[in-house]
Amino acid sequence: MSDASVERTPSSPGWGETVTMTMEDGIAWVSLNRPSKRNAINPGIVWEMNAVMDALEEDDDCKVMVVTGSGDSFSAGMDLKEYFRAYETAKPVARERLFRANAAWQWRRMMAYPKPTIAMVNGWCFGGAFQFLVACDLAIAAEEATFGLSEINWGIIPAGVVTKAVVDTMSLRDAMYYVMTGETFDGKKASEMRLVNEAVPLDRLKDRTRDLARVLMGKNPFVLRQAKTAVRQARELTWEQAADYLMAKSDQSDHRDPERGRKAGMSQFLDDKSYRPGLGAYRRD
Ligand code: COA
Repeated sequence: MSDASVERTPSSPGWGETVTMTMEDGIAWVSLNRPSKRNAINPGIVWEMNAVMDALEEDDDCKVMVVTGSGDSFSAGMDLKEYFRAYETAKPVARERLFRANAAWQWRRMMAYPKPTIAMVNGWCFGGAFQFLVACDLAIAAEEATFGLSEINWGIIPAGVVTKAVVDTMSLRDAMYYVMTGETFDGKKASEMRLVNEAVPLDRLKDRTRDLARVLMGKNPFVLRQAKTAVRQARELTWEQAADYLMAKSDQSDHRDPERGRKAGMSQFLDDKSYRPGLGAYRRD
């Protein structure tokens, strides 16, 4: 890799080289864009994904962010040449800054992202790609996609937070099996193991993802954000702590929701009898 890439800093503006974004009716389709390298994550993707996430966070046109890959790959994981090998000899401060920025977009920011996020797994998905796959709120895969925890095949453990992401999402037996064997599995198997929400044939992947994004867009965005945060937090809490936290979170939602959704939802059901909460969302004017 070039020295220029090593020196690139988080203040480098913009994207478009290694990440593309297309906005379509509230859905931001964000693609890792190094198809000839199977969308392996190099420093360019790290800085550009952070820049894209900065921009979309404040963009009112973006209601849902979909993360996918250009060409026939989701992502072949971390770039062994430009991310790992090139930084073996870099200054520790440059390496740490890059790793921190990578953790930010792949999971730290992704898990707490204010907009709903969907990983759309269109093909190869290896190693480090499991981090943002799991950190996205939801995931839809092509049945034909190929997943693998390949680290064991090249002499390392699934580090970063790959192992954590895997044990948090798959069963212990499945996690242990794929971490230890490095065997690949397809989208159907990923769905069976609940690594993704569902798998559909590749030719239906984008339509299914769009449909799911539209369902999310029909909900109150503020409450959706509160709800997804609560799901993440509740997993780490005891029952007593969860009861207290969720009560406080719920009160916070009531207090801060600009739509006053709870009031509107109750009124449309109890007074107007214009909808059934069990069967769909309240009308948002
Ligand atoms: N890091 C760096 N380069 C990678 C890469 C990665 N993770 N994955 C793919 N590439 C590069 C290849 O070196 C090759 O580059 P070249 O054209 O300059 O030779 C190019 O992408 C195409 O890869 P290739 O192996 O020829 O494609 P394929 O379609 O036959 O196989 C994979 C696709 C994903 C199975 C294969 O590339 C692979 O095993 N990649 C590594 C996956 C991995 O272990 N990731 C974990 C990293 S944490």
